[in-house]
This record gives sequence, structure tokens and C-alpha cells, in this order.
Amino acid sequence: MKSRLSLLFLLCLIVNPGLSMADAGKSAAKADETAVKSEADAKPQDAAKDTSKETPKEAGAAPTKSEEAAKDANAEATKPAEQPAAPPPADGPQLVGNIEAGKGKTQTCVACHGPDGNSTVPNWPKIAGQYENYLVKQLREFRLGEKGPRYEPSMYGMVANLSDQDIADLAAYYASEKQTLGKANSALVEVGQRIYRGGNVKTGVTACLACHGPEGLGNEAAKYPKLSGQHATYIDLQLHAFRDGKRKNSPNEMMESISHRLSDDEIKAVSSYIEGLR
Ligand code: HEC
Ligand code: HEC
Repeated sequence: MKSRLSLLFLLCLIVNPGLSMADAGKSAAKADETAVKSEADAKPQDAAKDTSKETPKEAGAAPTKSEEAAKDANAEATKPAEQPAAPPPADGPQLVGNIEAGKGKTQTCVACHGPDGNSTVPNWPKIAGQYENYLVKQLREFRLGEKGPRYEPSMYGMVANLSDQDIADLAAYYASEKQTLGKANSALVEVGQRIYRGGNVKTGVTACLACHGPEGLGNEAAKYPKLSGQHATYIDLQLHAFRDGKRKNSPNEMMESISHRLSDDEIKAVSSYIEGLR
């Protein structure tokens, strides 16, 4: 129990470096809340997350594993401090991906994401040039299926049978490709830019640039994804997914809580602005 709390705390430290000073405090408080919440009601979703944290190889296995994972966590606490200070990230230890091997595994992906990860259909994300660690996290979370924090039937079908090594290779390949540029709708730029750069003080929306950077390049170490050039339609869909609780995978519910404060019009405008970022 203690170890789970400290794990969450460390996790919070890891995800915080990109935050503004003001946000850092808020986010720490939020992490505490989350810790208390997950202690109080060990929902299946939490259990699934924990499983992916502690037994990544078996992340897709039956939920009863979470009990074992909890036991492991207790054992972990009594171990001598030989481990490095930082715990493995939420998605477990990273394997080294091989770009060439990854390229050879993309046959099933090209139909939607394009031959090089630059999808031309605006509902389907561009994944070329995205950070490798972020891609690994998403693919592993899709693979958890309905119990996972990002369930999407078509992607689940694509990754359900992939190994950790397949995922590492695919992520290495797509991260190595170059993303194509996008374009903003000039009628939406003003509002979009205001939200992106300044947030909305009245409704408590944090400026997107605090985490995703002024040019939408994100922060690789903190696993904040690159957004620039992404299809506005896809961004819009994801902001709604976070807001409607369909996508629940951002650390400390960062994106879930921000999206709740955005109106439909703000989502539309900021999504278009992001597509034009470069
Ligand atoms: C049938 C179309 C389809 C196929 C085939 C497909 N994808 Fe996807 N992919 C999607 C859709 C739709 C989403 C957005 C899912 C959502 O709304 O959460 C997505 C999302 C993703 C994301 C998350 C991107 C982000 O920015 O968070 C990654 C990574 C990804 N796909 C990789 C792959 C890989 C690797 C393959 C091949 C093994 C693949 N996809 C095959 C449709 C597809
Ligand atoms: C406190 C940090 C933070 C702030 C502020 C923030 N984000 Fe995010 N955002 C994240 C993180 C972390 C993720 C990745 C979640 C995950 O691991 O799946 C993310 C993911 C996203 C995604 C999904 C990208 C994809 O490829 O699927 C979109 C879209 C997004 N953010 C848009 C925004 C917008 C628009 C704003 C401003 C209104 C914003 N974010 C503000 C941290 C932040």
C-alpha cells in the first residue's frame, strides 16, 4: 500500500518536469487525490493499469493477475534499495526497438496510417515522427482491450496479438519517419491560438503550450506527445474522447480534466490551430 503510494508519487515527479511552476503544485495535489482514490476503490481499470506497471509481459492476461501484482508491490517495498531511483514508467520497462524490423511489421498498419505513418484520412492519426516512448505507451494501452484506459475496437484488433518486441519495433520505425505538415483554418486561428497559448482563465483551462510546447513539439522525457501538424479532425475526436471518458490514459488525468473545461467551439478552434503548428 505504501509502495503503491510512493510509486504514484514518483510517477508524478516524472510527468511533472514540463509543467509550469503553478501547475506543478496543483498536479502534485491531484496525484495525492488519485492515490487516495485508487486505494479506496480499486476499480478494474486501476487494476489493469497496475498490472501493466508491474507485470508488463502479462498485461493482457486475466484480471486476477492484479492481485499478484499487488503482492509483488508489497514484496518490492522490502527489497534493498539496489534499484534505480525512478520506477519503470507506467507501461513497464522499454525494450529496444529496431527500425528495420519495425518497417517489416507495418503491413497491417498502412491501410489506415499510410506507408510511412502519414495518414491522409483526417480521422486517423499521423504517427510519423511521434515520440517512440509515447507510441509504445499507446500501443500497449490499446492492447489491454476493454479493460484498458484507451479502448478503441479497430486499434485493439490491430495490436491484440503483438508482442512487446513487435510494439517496440513498430514504435521505433514510426518515430524515425518524418511527419508531413498540416494547415490551420484561418477563420479559427485567433480563438485557437488564444486557447493554445493562454488557456482560458475564466473556465480554468491550462494553456496547452505549458506541456505541448509553443510549437506543439511536446516533451519526450515527460511523454507529452507531439501535436503539431496532426489532423484537426483527429485532435478534435481525441479531446472529445478525453472529455466523454472514452480515453482515460493521461497521467494524473491531465487531459481528462482539461478537456472537461473546453467547449465544443474551443475544441474545434484549438484543434485547427494545432494542425497548422510547425
Ligand atoms: C482500421 C484502421 C487502422 C489500422 C489498420 C491501424 N490503425 Fe492505428 N489508429 C486507428 C485509429 C482510428 C486510431 C485512433 C484511435 C482512438 O480514437 O483512440 C489509431 C491510433 C493509433 C495510434 C495512437 C496515435 C496517437 O497519436 O495517440 C497508434 C500509435 C497507432 N494507431 C498505431 C498503429 C499500428 C502500429 C498499426 C498496425 C499494427 C495500426 N495503428 C493499424 C486506425 C487504424
Ligand atoms: C499538464 C500537461 C498538459 C497540458 C496543459 C495539456 N496537455 Fe494534452 N496531453 C498531455 C499528456 C501527458 C498527453 C498524453 C496522454 C497519454 O499518455 O496518452 C496529452 C495528450 C494530448 C492529446 C492526444 C494526442 C494524440 O496523439 O492522441 C491531445 C489532442 C492533446 N493532449 C491536446 C491538448 C490541448 C488542446 C491542450 C490545451 C487545451 C492540452 N493538450 C494541454 C499533457 C497536457
